[in-house]
Amino acid sequence: MSSSHDASARLDPHFEIADIDRRLFGGFVEHLGRHIYDGIFEPGHPSADEAGFRTDVIELVKELGVSTIRYPGGNFVSGYRWEDGIGPRSERPRRLDLAWHSTETNEVGLHEFQSWLDRVGSELMLALNLGTRGTQEALDLLEYANSDAQTAWTDRRAANGRTDAFGVKMWCLGNEMDGPWQIGHKNADDYGKLASATAKAMRMLDPGIELVACGSSGRGMPTFGAWERQVLEHTFDDVDFISCHSYYQEHAGNAQEFLASGVDMAKFIEEVVTIADSVAAAKKSDKRIMVSFDEWNIWYLHNEDGTESGHEFKGGAWPVAPRQLEDQYHALDAVVFGDLLITLLQHADRVRSASLAQLVNVIAPIMTEPGGPAWRQTTFFPFSITSRLAQGRAVRVPVDAATFTSEKLGEVATVNAVATIDDEGVSLFVVNRSTTDAAALRVDLAPLLVTLGRELEVVETHLLHEDDVYAANTLENPDRVGVRGAEASVDSSVLSIALPAVSWAAVRLA
Ligand code: AHR
Repeated sequence: MSSSHDASARLDPHFEIADIDRRLFGGFVEHLGRHIYDGIFEPGHPSADEAGFRTDVIELVKELGVSTIRYPGGNFVSGYRWEDGIGPRSERPRRLDLAWHSTETNEVGLHEFQSWLDRVGSELMLALNLGTRGTQEALDLLEYANSDAQTAWTDRRAANGRTDAFGVKMWCLGNEMDGPWQIGHKNADDYGKLASATAKAMRMLDPGIELVACGSSGRGMPTFGAWERQVLEHTFDDVDFISCHSYYQEHAGNAQEFLASGVDMAKFIEEVVTIADSVAAAKKSDKRIMVSFDEWNIWYLHNEDGTESGHEFKGGAWPVAPRQLEDQYHALDAVVFGDLLITLLQHADRVRSASLAQLVNVIAPIMTEPGGPAWRQTTFFPFSITSRLAQGRAVRVPVDAATFTSEKLGEVATVNAVATIDDEGVSLFVVNRSTTDAAALRVDLAPLLVTLGRELEVVETHLLHEDDVYAANTLENPDRVGVRGAEASVDSSVLSIALPAVSWAAVRLA
């Protein structure tokens, strides 16, 4: 039976966390399944432009509001030769992609992807292959992409249609090198030495770049913690970021445990920050390594029997663009997803970059059908709304609410919130993690109103909630789940919001 409880919070601008780096709202595009081919690139599609890109997908990516986009992998990058994707298409080789057991046609490479990014208005973040390759190949790509000097590589870039440098700012030194599944998997010592040497050489070529060292591919990895410490002992002076990757899913129908995922993400970030700062202390350095949370999402990676999903083609066939990792997200997933965004904002002082993994068809907020429509999954809504409304600086919102007991994480607050303040107004993002109880949340705005010296009123609200928490958007019913207005009002400097059980909401005050 569902009931309701009261919750209270305080919005005080003095509880400032940090200015929000727009890179917090990044995405990730990997050569995987139908992400590129039959996803963003489908030359025969009625909406395709002259370059073969689906314009319906471009419009949805713009609406989603993604800042930087990490490319081209993922596990894929650890076996990738970037040179295969440049030059005349007819001369590009078809290659086996060992990571996802498929065939890569190389019809889309660096130039095509950059032109797609120009269309969607996002910035390129490149991942390097430190699995089968090393420092020299990283330097070759950096010279090809960023150098203004006249060299063999930049001559080749010009011959391929681009005189101006790509000017890629952020570079990932490999992908998930701690994972035994990774092509060229290394121990922390070997990876740390390679990442440090590569970073030093890259900075000799382009001192303006920002570099990300691989952290753990999950908080549950047996090497988590020791990996970060050892890698940073080697790379501390050479890198700007350490990465975090984390995927969440509901296990065995335990929605309440799943709804605690934001707490796990928060612990992960805080643990990595503690380790990074302990390396700084040992080195007597004031430098602060930032977190690049460059893979996060809901992903039904583990089947109920404990096996991994997503590797359906381990037989003899090497298909082109197979349907892989095409998770269908329901309302419950979107509420947890919204809470993950709240968690990232709550750590905006140290998480200066994050990438939703991924964008189209592959564990994605946007789905497409070949020759058919493109539609928004449930997770699309919290991302697009948060990316648009979370401007300026992030502010902590302490909440007093009922708790529940998580098997893994102990006592967890049912209501979690964060606010952002910009020149035009204030946005509040809030989640009710309870599976049983609605929450009547009262937010004390008095400290905010005193600081601003003016009144605020509710100008925009969004509520994501479904009585059937497993409702989803599908090809047949693409608009089944969306957002509607929330019950929110300001009275005598108190903002009241009604939050049904399992709901996410955003309120804009101006
Ligand atoms: O996003 C899917 C995969 O998850 C990526 O290729 C890899 O980096 C991670 O394990």
